[in-house]
Amino acid sequence: MLNQTKNNALSEFLRKTPQSKEFSTEAKQVMPGGVTANIKAFDPYPIIMDQGAGAYLYDIDGNKYIDYLLSYGALMLGHGPPAVVNAIQSQVEDDGTFLFGTPHRLETEMGKKIRQHYPSMERIRYTNSGTEATLLAIRMAHAYTGKHKIAKFEGHYHGGYDQVLLSVNPSVDNAGPVDEPTSVIESKGVDPYHQEHTIVLPFNNLDATAEILRKKKDDIAAVILEPIQSGFIPADHFFMEGLRTITEELGILLIFDEVKTGFRIGLGGAQAVYGISPDLTTLGKVIGGGFPVGIVGGKQDVLMTSAPNSNSDVFDSSQSKTSQAKDVLFHSGTYNGHPTILAAGLATINVLEQEIDHVLTTTRQLKKGISELFAKHGISMQTIGLGSIFNVVITDKEKIWNHRELQQANFSMRKQLDFLLLNEGIYTKPLNRYSLATVHGDKEVQDTLAAYDKALSKLT
Ligand SMILES: Cc1ncc(COP(=O)(O)O)c(C=O)c1O
Repeated sequence: MLNQTKNNALSEFLRKTPQSKEFSTEAKQVMPGGVTANIKAFDPYPIIMDQGAGAYLYDIDGNKYIDYLLSYGALMLGHGPPAVVNAIQSQVEDDGTFLFGTPHRLETEMGKKIRQHYPSMERIRYTNSGTEATLLAIRMAHAYTGKHKIAKFEGHYHGGYDQVLLSVNPSVDNAGPVDEPTSVIESKGVDPYHQEHTIVLPFNNLDATAEILRKKKDDIAAVILEPIQSGFIPADHFFMEGLRTITEELGILLIFDEVKTGFRIGLGGAQAVYGISPDLTTLGKVIGGGFPVGIVGGKQDVLMTSAPNSNSDVFDSSQSKTSQAKDVLFHSGTYNGHPTILAAGLATINVLEQEIDHVLTTTRQLKKGISELFAKHGISMQTIGLGSIFNVVITDKEKIWNHRELQQANFSMRKQLDFLLLNEGIYTKPLNRYSLATVHGDKEVQDTLAAYDKALSKLT
């Protein structure tokens, strides 16, 4: 029965998207796999979008979709929001340039706005992506503690570089003991050195985590985690409090990677929900208003490892140097603190300050409606997540705590459902989570639920 549904869903998908197929074939002649980020690829081919407006995407075949991917959560005001368009135009027109190459007022203005919502971020530095932000946070932790290893949790993603491309999505067969996971390389080309230097911890398992940290405390500079794994599996409060206590006790820095959860779980991110103050925080996605940005912030004395001091510039080869470049943590970037992007980000946060409650309420309504429809069609599932992000997990389990438990969910049924929903005009990349925006309202929720009802009828 499921196979028949799968075939029907796929043939309908192929029928509706011939130009996407053709364009994908052409794109493969230009880019490996036809994509420029592997996450954007899916079988038989990804849908090629052509236009965006508010809550909607339009593909090159003219199909219209309600967008719940929202560029992996980045677009919290939807597509082309007037507040952001105006902010970008004003910045360029008022300032006469979009890049000063010097300090400018928006850097400080945005920094103060961030600190208002994230008091733990006493000082901040800008980067150009979430990946760069976690990379810098980890370097700061090494610099501050003088230790050479880090610890991350199984199933957590922090960007695409060697130090953290380990045990992001390991198959359970390779992942080692539940209480002491193996560090599994997730990409060709990752230097095995990092397998040794990145210790993998079991999420939501405080006793096992504490035991590993105690054993290796002299080597571990920091524990980095997504406080809400993949943006939707929340840490248990008790676990989070325990982790804060143990890291403090062992002299290990605690880094909250809030690239997904920042401003999405609530204005103050996961740290406000848990009432925990990490040593370092990384932000990205929402704070760029759709443009590339990242921020590292945290305790003043940790951030100060990056403060320039006299004559420590790595590029300064004059004889008058009084200190060495290696005395200061190197952090630089041509585009760091880009004025146009910060204007877009500030405009986004200003709107969210007024409208976040609407997004949270709409998300709750959608989650409730979807759960009711699954119950009506007799399929066990959960809508897991906090704030404006959730995922639809088809499972009999009462609670999902980590990567290994998630692996037991019914992904094949979920994938079929996703194709049926794509055919009904509901967009998220198959198997991805849902993120909501200010532009989702009653109409979008009702239309989505009607599409779900239809899709679930076909599935069952
Ligand atoms: C938690 C987390 N950290 C880091 C990153 C990397 O951010 P970027 O894609 O902006 O480099 C992501 C991206 O999805 C993320 O979700």
